[in-house]
Amino acid sequence: LGRLLHRSIKAKHIFARNLSLTHRNDFKVTVIGGVGGIGAPLCLLLKLQPDLITELYIQDLVKWTPGVALDISHINTPVKVKAFTGADQVREACRGTDLVIIPGGVPRKPGMTRDDLFGANASVVRDVAVACADACPDALINIITNPVNSVVPIFCEVMRKAGKLNPAKIFGISTLDLVRSSTFVANLKGLDPSKVVVPSVGGHSGISIVPLLSQCQPQVSLTPDEIKTLTTNIQQAGTNVVKAKVGAGSAQLAMAFAGARFAFNLLRAKKGESNIIECAFTLNNSHGTKYISSRLLLGKNGIEKDLGIGKLSDFEQENFKKAIEAIKKNVAKGEQFVNKIG
Ligand code: LMR
Repeated sequence: LGRLLHRSIKAKHIFARNLSLTHRNDFKVTVIGGVGGIGAPLCLLLKLQPDLITELYIQDLVKWTPGVALDISHINTPVKVKAFTGADQVREACRGTDLVIIPGGVPRKPGMTRDDLFGANASVVRDVAVACADACPDALINIITNPVNSVVPIFCEVMRKAGKLNPAKIFGISTLDLVRSSTFVANLKGLDPSKVVVPSVGGHSGISIVPLLSQCQPQVSLTPDEIKTLTTNIQQAGTNVVKAKVGAGSAQLAMAFAGARFAFNLLRAKKGESNIIECAFTLNNSHGTKYISSRLLLGKNGIEKDLGIGKLSDFEQENFKKAIEAIKKNVAKGEQFVNKIG
C-alpha cells in the first residue's frame, strides 16, 4: 500500500509539474532602466499583474533605485520586487529571467528626431545585449529605448555574434503607435478607444510609422482627407508630446502603458493563451528590409507566426515604400555600429 501511495503521489506530482509547465504564470520580469520616466510607471503596472508575474527585478543607474523598488514593493500584490543598482548589476538583474524590458536611455528634447538619440543610446542597448547573451540567452526581450529602428538591429547583432540570436524573441516596441491610432480614430468617430484596433507596420519613427487605417476594426468610413490627417498625426504624435513637454522629455505614461500591454500579451501567449496578435519591430526580411514591424501571432516561444501586413490601400502602399527606405538606413546604422566595434 505504501508503495502504491508513493507511486500515486509521484504521478500526481509529475502531472502537476507538467500542468504548470504548460500553464506557467510565475514569470520573472526584469526592467532595465526601471526608475526612469517610462520605467517607474511601467514597473507599477507590472506590480499590478500577479496573474502573470511573480518576480519583478528593477535595475537602474541611479542610487535611489532601491528606494523606488521599496516604494513599489509596498503595494499589496504578491509580485516580489528586487532592486539592482548600477551598470554592473545588469547581468545579475537579467540572470534566469523570462522577460527583459528595456526602457532605459536618454529621451528626446524639442527639435530632435529619434535618430538623434543614436549616439547616446546605441551603447546602452549594446551593453544590455552583451549581458543578456550571457545571463538570459533564452529570455524574451522588449526594447523601448529609441531609436527603436536602429537599436533592435544592435541587440540582434550582438546576440548573433555571441551565437545566441533567436529572432522570435526580440521585439522593438511599436505598440504606442497602435495605441495612439486607436485613440485618434475613436475620438474622430465617437467610438470607445479601447474597442478600436488599428495595426501599425513599418517602424517606430516619423514616416517609418505606417498606420493601416484601411484595416481598422471595427471598420470605419474615413475620407481621403481624414486618412491623411490621421496618418500624419499618428506619425508625429511622439514629436508633439516632446514639443508639449518643452524640454522635459518625451512620452512616458502612454509609453509605459503600451510597454505593459505588449509585455502582458507576450506573457499570456507564453502561458498558453491562443490567438494573441500584436505588431512589433523584429528581424524579418520578407518586406525588402531586414527588420520591420508587422502583425505577429504570439506563442509560447515568442513569435509563432508572422501574419505580415495584409492588404494595403494605395495610400498606405505609398507610405510603406517610403517607410522601407527610411528603415533600411536606420538598420544599416545599427548594424555598422556593432560591426565597427568588432
Ligand atoms: C514616442 O513615440 O512617444 C516615443 O518613441 C518617444 C519619442 O521620442 O517620441
